[in-house]
Amino acid sequence: MRVRLVSTSHFAAAHRLHRDDWDEATNRRIFDKCNNPHGHGHTYGLAVTVEGEIDPETGYLMDFGHLKRAVDESVVRRLDRRHLNFDVDFLKGVNPTAENIAVAIWGQLADRVAPGRLVRVALQETERNSVVYEGGAP
Ligand code: NI
Repeated sequence: MRVRLVSTSHFAAAHRLHRDDWDEATNRRIFDKCNNPHGHGHTYGLAVTVEGEIDPETGYLMDFGHLKRAVDESVVRRLDRRHLNFDVDFLKGVNPTAENIAVAIWGQLADRVAPGRLVRVALQETERNSVVYEGGAP
């Protein structure tokens, strides 16, 4: 019996959307408020979905606590209260749009959720805006 588990968390972080190889006017036009010189903050919502078979002995796909620990250790603690342009090793050189952050989170988590299989990373940047990444070509 195949099921999916969803583990949700939050982290607060600052970022600035900017490309050094573009001039100021282009950065401002494309990234608008998110190009604010000293950055700005979001409270991000993260929902991680894993898929797998129910173990007939335990009745679990995997322990929710194990999944939460994997998400906390590999993602949330490394992003919470950080500036995403400067403080996070796995985002070095990445323009920290919600899209790019979601893909980078996938990279940190995919090997940590056995016996589940990572199938979805949903990152909510604001009340109205979220990104969903379901794997595939980077
Ligand atoms: Ni922003």
